Amino acid sequence: MRKIRVNTSSPYDVLIERGSIKDCGKYIAEVTGKCKAAIITDDTVSALYADIVRTSLEANGFEICTFVFPHGERSKDLSTLAEIFDFLAKNSITRSDILVALGGGVVGDITGFAAASFLRGIRFVQIPTTLLAQIDSSVGGKTAVDIPAGKNLVGAFKQPEIVICDSDTLTTLPDDELACGMAEAIKYGMIRDSRLFDIIAEHDLKNINDVMDELVYTCIDIKRDVVEHDEFDTGERMILNFGHTIGHAIEGWHNYTDYTHGMGVAAGMCIITDKFAPELSGRLRKCVEAYGLPTGTEAPMSELLPFCMNDKKRTTGNISYIVCPSVGKAEIRKVAFAEFSHLMEG
Ligand code: NAD
Ligand code: GLY
Repeated sequence: MRKIRVNTSSPYDVLIERGSIKDCGKYIAEVTGKCKAAIITDDTVSALYADIVRTSLEANGFEICTFVFPHGERSKDLSTLAEIFDFLAKNSITRSDILVALGGGVVGDITGFAAASFLRGIRFVQIPTTLLAQIDSSVGGKTAVDIPAGKNLVGAFKQPEIVICDSDTLTTLPDDELACGMAEAIKYGMIRDSRLFDIIAEHDLKNINDVMDELVYTCIDIKRDVVEHDEFDTGERMILNFGHTIGHAIEGWHNYTDYTHGMGVAAGMCIITDKFAPELSGRLRKCVEAYGLPTGTEAPMSELLPFCMNDKKRTTGNISYIVCPSVGKAEIRKVAFAEFSHLMEG
């Protein structure tokens, strides 16, 4: 069992071990004590893992209720959130009880926000089952739902009580979802750890599972370090956005359909690197391609720039973007939006 302590305003452990989902009840009880546990999950994950989690929680003295919603980003909205609130109220969940987020980033984000707001805040735990959720969304305390005006626009910072990562659960992930997580793993290598980048570059989508525990551990440890320095996202945490400014714009250009977040991040990292550190482009592109991810986009830059203007990392008239001048090093560059447009179109 590997453990990472995340020292945020409310500290917690991330446990990383194959097979740990079967013992989740024991690990959660050690942190929260016995209480009522509302498992929140989606239909796909429910069919695969809800019984295992329920059995382990019951064996460790928890009283269980389960809320299941349809999988996919479209469920991460205010109407599902309202259904979760109704469910928690009907099941008499109190401030002594816990929510259990079982699933990918969609489940984690909406459950975390429900935990931040129900009864003005109750405890929650994360059992992330996608690579993206294990190495990114379950750690760091960002929770949110989408509204018609944009993704993740309504949310809160709310740290979990514990995160349990079982990389065996990743073996049931479809390839495109695994690739989505690998885009974020490549990002961690680019911004902070050239050794991690090399390990990723030496593998591909078919054999990366051989080193999955090490990969998950290393990525989470990088996220821990960044989040501990800037929990509330006012500075350094922005480096986690490498590839995301253009990536989100590409996702938006595709109306968030048939184009995953990971594809956007991969293409975004390549486009920014082509522009500002072209000597690294070959290495990055080769690595991205090994995971079946795109290295560019058919969308014209002139049509992507309006989407960049809506980026959450924008302040009045300015935009921050991240450049990696070498593998393992990230720089935040803040410029007037007009200058960014000029640089990107030039
Ligand atoms: P997701 O939660 O939609 O999961 C992807 C798909 O995989 C879903 O259909 C799900 O049912 C399925 N799935 C999950 N686990 C599975 C498993 N083990 N086997 C088979 N299928 C499985 O998407 P995601 O990529 O995990 O997360 C994306 C979300 O995360 C977005 O909403 C994004 O905004 C959010 N996010 C949040 C943060 C944060 O810091 N809070 C960071 C990055 C992304
Ligand atoms: N996923 C970006 C962050 O946690 O800040």
